[in-house]
Amino acid sequence: MRIGVVGAYGQLGSDLVQAVLARGWQVDGPRSSEVDICDRAQLEDWTRRSRCDAFVNCAAYTAVDAAETDQARARAINAEGASNLAVAVQNLGGSERLIQISTDYVFSGVFSGVFSGDFSDESVDQKGRRPYREDDPTAPQSVYGRTKLEGEGQVLEACADAAVLRVGWIYGRAGKNFVKAILRRAVEHGKLSVVSDQHGAPCSARSISAAVVAMLERPVWPHRLYHFGARPLTTWFDFATHIVAQAVEVGLLQAMVPIEATTTAALNQVARRPPWSALDCSRFETDFGDLVSDWRVELKEVLGQIKSDGGP
Ligand SMILES: NC(=O)c1ccc[n+]([C@@H]2O[C@H](COP(=O)([O-])OP(=O)(O)OC[C@H]3O[C@@H](n4cnc5c(N)ncnc54)[C@H](OP(=O)(O)O)[C@@H]3O)[C@@H](O)[C@H]2O)c1
Repeated sequence: MRIGVVGAYGQLGSDLVQAVLARGWQVDGPRSSEVDICDRAQLEDWTRRSRCDAFVNCAAYTAVDAAETDQARARAINAEGASNLAVAVQNLGGSERLIQISTDYVFSGVFSGVFSGDFSDESVDQKGRRPYREDDPTAPQSVYGRTKLEGEGQVLEACADAAVLRVGWIYGRAGKNFVKAILRRAVEHGKLSVVSDQHGAPCSARSISAAVVAMLERPVWPHRLYHFGARPLTTWFDFATHIVAQAVEVGLLQAMVPIEATTTAALNQVARRPPWSALDCSRFETDFGDLVSDWRVELKEVLGQIKSDGGP
């Protein structure tokens, strides 16, 4: 197989390229300077020339706060760009397929009555919250989330052989991410302050890449949304605590640093983040297998990779 990866040099795209190559498939992953997802003609030309069996869109405007004041660019990449790729793949007219990567930020994370009537469900916690399913109502709270949601809809409408994979908080060896930021700040400041009121599941780029490869293995897949994440559910504070402890174990940090729990309100960020963004992955597991991993195990692997790369 030959897989076209848009956003191949980003955090997820870099890992996906490696996973596809490790699977023994070929990759065509242009830089954004070579193929701009916002340039429809260029994209159509590339999809025709690349002769890929499937395409994965890892490209996005991911600067969540900046998107609030850069709405036109965020929409151009996350919504119109995603649509451009879907139209281009559809226009190939063959059996080519497309996976669009999306985000947990399409949900509000606020639970006032959203799941009322659903309390017999075992996965509902004491506060009436449970991981989001694909058909739960979306209510993005940020420009980033809104434009990604628009992209999802446009991809599914434009391309008959497309699926959308929503994922949670990503970390990996490439690009900018929370793990690397924590490691750098721990060294620079000797202490950390991290929010403890946002709940989610940190998902390694490695494990998402394995999930995408599992989807690509199948000759066909349903034209629908999927959720993919990690377990167990945690908070950024708890995640940071594990990062620091494990970084000490693997020798990336010399000693533990104090970590203070803070609140989202205290951070005063420009964009609103969902306080709860757990994703229910059972649809994915039914269709593609049990690939949801424990992020604490994945974290150890990723920290090892960051160490072998010379640090964050
Ligand atoms: N990061 C997270 O925590 C997170 C969480 C949930 C979902 N997601 C989703 O996961 C996917 C991958 O995210 P990521 O963290 O890997 O993002 P990332 O590291 O910011 O990478 C995004 C990639 O998109 C490319 N890109 C941006 N504009 C482009 C354009 N006009 N044409 C072509 N390529 C363009 C970038 O290339 P340049 O650098 O050259 O511009 C970069 O390679 C995205 O769909 C994102 O929405 C991310």
